[in-house]
Amino acid sequence: MSLNLPQTFLTIDDLLDAVTQVKERRETLAFVPTMGALHLGHLALVQEAKKLADHVIVSIFVNPTQFGPNEDFAKYPRTFAEDLALLSPLKVCGVFAPSAATMYPEGFQTYVVNRDMATTLDGVARPGHFDGVLTVVQKLLNLVKPDIAVFGKKDYQQWRLIETMVRDLYLPVKIVGLETIRERDGLALSSRNRYLSDEERLKAPLIIQGLNAAKEKYQSGVRDPKLLSDECQSFLAQDFTIDYVEVRSAKTLKSFQDLINEPPVMLVAARLGQTRLIDNLELEDSRGK
Ligand code: PAJ
Repeated sequence: MSLNLPQTFLTIDDLLDAVTQVKERRETLAFVPTMGALHLGHLALVQEAKKLADHVIVSIFVNPTQFGPNEDFAKYPRTFAEDLALLSPLKVCGVFAPSAATMYPEGFQTYVVNRDMATTLDGVARPGHFDGVLTVVQKLLNLVKPDIAVFGKKDYQQWRLIETMVRDLYLPVKIVGLETIRERDGLALSSRNRYLSDEERLKAPLIIQGLNAAKEKYQSGVRDPKLLSDECQSFLAQDFTIDYVEVRSAKTLKSFQDLINEPPVMLVAARLGQTRLIDNLELEDSRGK
């Protein structure tokens, strides 16, 4: 079989060699950080990145610092060979796949912490999660030095936090957010969907159905955030354990004091059995409806 697998950089030196070559040629570089277990959502980010720059580097690193003690770090799917095969038709410049000891050598002690937007929504349910995300993304950006980095709006709060970090710390990179890629029935693609039983998988699209129902209400003129989240919750109440269903400002993720007065996003985190799913929907069309 002669699949042209992408180059892999296992060490920082190997990565830096490739990055230096791109920079010396004065070509542009886009970066797509992932934790592997790649699916079509990740591949869409890579395709977008290819449109935006001359070269694309993907990272695959299951980042230990963003998992809580009772979370799925140990059993997070690791499918490196399949990931490389999926990436091969996309002709990326390379895949950075460092070890944990490379990213967090002994004595590591410095973190990037957001003190506002990270303290809400998933930051409540997953204490410390975003410290781990921001820290590893900052470290990866420092190594790869991309012109552009592409993230999925599937992880809406993560995307907004990374934009905020880049703004607050004057990082020289442009952050691009890409729409969520979904299954035919609307379920957002996620590496964690493979944990769902057949029965749970059939119920999982209730999340997007609830989000769409709320969006319809918003578009018909409803501006009370409680009415909109109640609408979505009514789809989930029977089968899910709800962490949150919230309408927030799409830009700042702040709650609305009273009526919605700037473009909103509805965010959901809910458990089906053992599996925690997150999803979201911007309630306003980009045309501003
Ligand atoms: P991971 O969950 O592997 O996701 C990598 C990127 O793929 C993220 O930007 C995520 O938002 C995006 N993504 C996941 N599912 C998607 C979908 N259905 N449609 C569009 N984009 C999707 O997010 C992480 O890894 C990590 O926190 C990371 C940023 C790599 C830091 O460790």
